[in-house]
Amino acid sequence: MILPPPPQIPQNTAQPKFDSSFLRTFVIIILQLKKSKMTKSKQLYFIIILFFIGFMACNLSRSANVTSDVQSIYDENCAGCHGTQLQYFKRLKSYEKSVATLSKMIEVGEENLGMPAYGQTFSESEIRQLSEYITDFDYDKNHQTTTSTNPNYIYEIVVDGLEIPWSFEFFPNGDMLIAERKGVLSYFSKTDGMTTISGLPAIRVEGQGGLLDLKLHPNYATNGWIYISYAYPDANDSGKGNTAIIRAKLNESKALYAVEEIYKGSPATEKSHHYGNRMVFDGQNRLYFSNGERGNRDDFPQALDNTNGKIHRLNDDGSVPQDNPFVNDANAVGSIYSYGHRNPQGLAFHPVTGELWEHEHGPKGGDEINIIGAGNNYGWPIISYGVNYSGTKFTDMTEKEGMEQPIHYYKPSIAPCGMAFLDSDIYPDWKNNLFIGSLRFEYLERIVLKDNQVVYQEKLLEELKSRVRDVRVGNDGYLYVAVENPGRIIKISPK
Ligand code: HEC
Repeated sequence: MILPPPPQIPQNTAQPKFDSSFLRTFVIIILQLKKSKMTKSKQLYFIIILFFIGFMACNLSRSANVTSDVQSIYDENCAGCHGTQLQYFKRLKSYEKSVATLSKMIEVGEENLGMPAYGQTFSESEIRQLSEYITDFDYDKNHQTTTSTNPNYIYEIVVDGLEIPWSFEFFPNGDMLIAERKGVLSYFSKTDGMTTISGLPAIRVEGQGGLLDLKLHPNYATNGWIYISYAYPDANDSGKGNTAIIRAKLNESKALYAVEEIYKGSPATEKSHHYGNRMVFDGQNRLYFSNGERGNRDDFPQALDNTNGKIHRLNDDGSVPQDNPFVNDANAVGSIYSYGHRNPQGLAFHPVTGELWEHEHGPKGGDEINIIGAGNNYGWPIISYGVNYSGTKFTDMTEKEGMEQPIHYYKPSIAPCGMAFLDSDIYPDWKNNLFIGSLRFEYLERIVLKDNQVVYQEKLLEELKSRVRDVRVGNDGYLYVAVENPGRIIKISPK
């Protein structure tokens, strides 16, 4: 494949500037000195000091430039995946590795893990500076939490000590089910604390994969079904995987039983990113859920013969509803409800209009909020408002006949995860607002909508400096979020 020319990145302004105006001033001062009545040795002494001051000034401004340049390169290109506080590097203990090792990774990337190659985008010196920025970063100083300064709400930590809580659900009695990406499912009760639930299937914990979403059946109180999504490893040990959903019941000793497979994404691939997945039930107990395009944007999202890059709809027992849009197409996967998606990690029904809302991680500068309609094509990767992570373009089109426009897109990308409409009256003025977590900028976004347009956006929980992974409305009508590093479940209450 022929790559388009690399983008224009701002030239590194970090070179010492011995430019003409600097030299002219220097020469003028020396000529003035010659005319003065100073002794030769005093003149020499003066010139040396002058030169030294000039040299220091150049170097000071140079190091200031380096810091701000590398930081802005980092914030713009890397923070979306590695965190504004470089949290992900802390988890990988990158600061213990050599600058050469990190530079190599930045240069050539690691496609199967989802790390783009930046060798074409940045110069050798910029890549080295990025590596030094990662190894020198003061992780502890830059990660302190404070209490809320927002006058409208307070927050409290309900569950602490988690790693990466990917999702959580409330049981009718107020106890909680918590999924951590590392493959641990827990039962949390205020009186007994956390209990690990046994009986999960094999999970592919790698990259963005692991234990993912949780949903209780709308009639959980009578039927006991819990829906669990995760990244599954291909059975024949091929090193491949994709997204799967099971449903199961929970017994007294906190073990899953009656496990049934509801869905298995295919084909499985080696990639360890873009699994999706979020699940939501409609009023007829049908399950809608997302499967990301598994990092194969050119093969999957526009073809209907595979499950990847799609929103799906199934009956609660895993059977295909006979009014699904593509059931009569012999070459299409019957569960497909809409297609042309990248990596959707937010699904929720609007409490007033009843429409299904979705958001998805776009490429750089192309995260989208969409309203999902049966059989629609959302255009990935034919149309997009974003560009490749490396800055290169993959399409010139932002719209096309037969493809849906997002109701909103984010530039820069916020890396959205989790989505909920607030349908309770507990918070003054927040009713029917949309809430979306930002992994990249580490806040919960409150969105006010009018006629399906975004009219106001506010950042909540910024002071936590934590990636917001999931947001839900509890049975008590309060907003809860799951955050990472440190992993917690947080309750938001009006002041
Ligand atoms: C699309 C997401 C994404 C973006 C954007 C991204 N990375 Fe990565 N990066 C990854 C993933 C995934 C890994 C592998 C992490 C793992 O092994 O779990 C990784 C690994 C790395 C590593 C190796 C860390 C180690 O300890 O081995 C370095 C260094 C790195 N990235 C630097 C960067 C820099 C610098 C940028 C910006 C110029 C960047 N990354 C942008 C996803 C990303």
